[in-house]
Amino acid sequence: MANHQHCINCLQESKGLYEYPCASCNWSPEQYSNSGLYLSPGTILHGQYQIGKLLGHGGFGITYLAWDNLLEIKLAIKEYMPRDFATRNSTNSEISAFTGDAKANFTYGLERFLEEARTLAKFQQHNGIVSVLNVFYGNGTGYMVMEYVDGLTLKEYLIGKHKLSWEQTLKLFMPVMDALREVHKYGMLHRDISPDNIYLCRDNRVKLLDFGSARYSLGGHSRSLSVVVKPGYAPEEQYRTKGNQGPWTDVYSVAASMYRCITGLVPPDALDRLDEDELKTPSMLGINIPDKAERELMAALAIKSNQRTQSIEAFQKGFLDISDSVGKTKEYQDKEKSTEKPYSYSKYEGAKFSDLFRRQRELPFGAKLQNHALNARLNDEFKKFYPTLGKQPIIRDVEKQRYWIQEDLLQVQIRQKNGTDFTYNIAPVVINIIDAYVASKKAAFDGFLDTCQQIAELSGSNSKKAIDFIMHCNMKLRLYKTDT
Ligand SMILES: Nc1ncnc2c1ncn2[C@@H]1O[C@H](COP(=O)(O)OP(=O)(O)O)[C@@H](O)[C@H]1O
Ligand SMILES: [Mg+2]
Repeated sequence: MANHQHCINCLQESKGLYEYPCASCNWSPEQYSNSGLYLSPGTILHGQYQIGKLLGHGGFGITYLAWDNLLEIKLAIKEYMPRDFATRNSTNSEISAFTGDAKANFTYGLERFLEEARTLAKFQQHNGIVSVLNVFYGNGTGYMVMEYVDGLTLKEYLIGKHKLSWEQTLKLFMPVMDALREVHKYGMLHRDISPDNIYLCRDNRVKLLDFGSARYSLGGHSRSLSVVVKPGYAPEEQYRTKGNQGPWTDVYSVAASMYRCITGLVPPDALDRLDEDELKTPSMLGINIPDKAERELMAALAIKSNQRTQSIEAFQKGFLDISDSVGKTKEYQDKEKSTEKPYSYSKYEGAKFSDLFRRQRELPFGAKLQNHALNARLNDEFKKFYPTLGKQPIIRDVEKQRYWIQEDLLQVQIRQKNGTDFTYNIAPVVINIIDAYVASKKAAFDGFLDTCQQIAELSGSNSKKAIDFIMHCNMKLRLYKTDT
């Protein structure tokens, strides 16, 4: 059988019987221990598909690499598994919904998931949308079989690059917009465009992944809002149960993803923008971009949906209309080439104390932090761990009251296969880690508020609902008996 010539985990091929540990992924059946969360490599589904390693795990589904034993091709298979409503039985791999409302939500979401797969299957010929080849029920849930595309997500691609030029960004997003125009024609929305759902194939095609209709239809019922919307990329109407969603919703997320590529920054959360809009234009951030392109981008990022560019077609046209755009961008590129490498610090003046302090205050509970000089405590802590290094991580210009990070600590030397050393600047990765940390803290906080809201609503509901809530709540709660 085919699996003898493949690593069961990563599907790397060999001429004879496969020998473990795998030379490519280091996996071996003896050392593998199943956590129970995922299907084990080697599991056969639908009598035809052999499950391989995990490719991704989101709030609503688990994606595996797989091998089609009949066609003998690699596939990606997505399993419907909304973690707020269901769990896996570790002995027989069956997914079962929690009791009460969760059961109905699970079934409703499952039907939407399969319906979405069927709709996506209609776009099989479209270059810009990952092909869905089959759907089936199994293990108490549903599965979507996709072509396996070799490549990486835009999010992964951006790690280490931090930013792309305006021209590169536009080139990359043109096929994304082509695909979305097609999808919108069929009355479907993507609802989750962001760099992690844009896939850059090794053969240079760009494809959309992960259409979020199951996620959306369960949105109103999910405990944590952050499972449903992606902060920074989702427009404000996606935060509301009755928000007016339409093609303009995807327009916002495409523009937000382009903004992230061009500036290196994720736009502020749409709800924060409603309160006070601090979104800076790329040119305010010193980015080279033709005026017209910037106006189009900002119009697509309008907070209120009725003030926003209404269709992908109009948005895309706005860029096509830019006269002599190629000439202009070449000029920009030449300028870019002549200037210093990105992340060279020679001209960096440091961050202002007032800006850093304001940023600190904006973070959840940031206002509780005291007004300390920003260098002293961190430098002391650092010294405890690296007493002999003789370098402080935060440098301060006392006169100008500016701060910056010690450049030497951000340069990592890596020996390449050919023996030469490559100096890698980890600044953008550090920024990504900080952004992800802040996003996860914010998500936890949102989840907490959501739970509080549900508790407030429980007092009016029946006791079964309350028991259900307590049994399946993800938060750590303490119960108090009160006399009132
Ligand atoms: N068809 C595919 N081919 C190759 N890799 C895929 C494919 N579909 C998904 N992946 C990988 O799996 C990850 C998760 O898939 P995705 O559909 O975005 O689900 P979610 O974000 O809900 O976990 C993606 O980021 C990508 O790396
Ligand atoms: Mg995804």
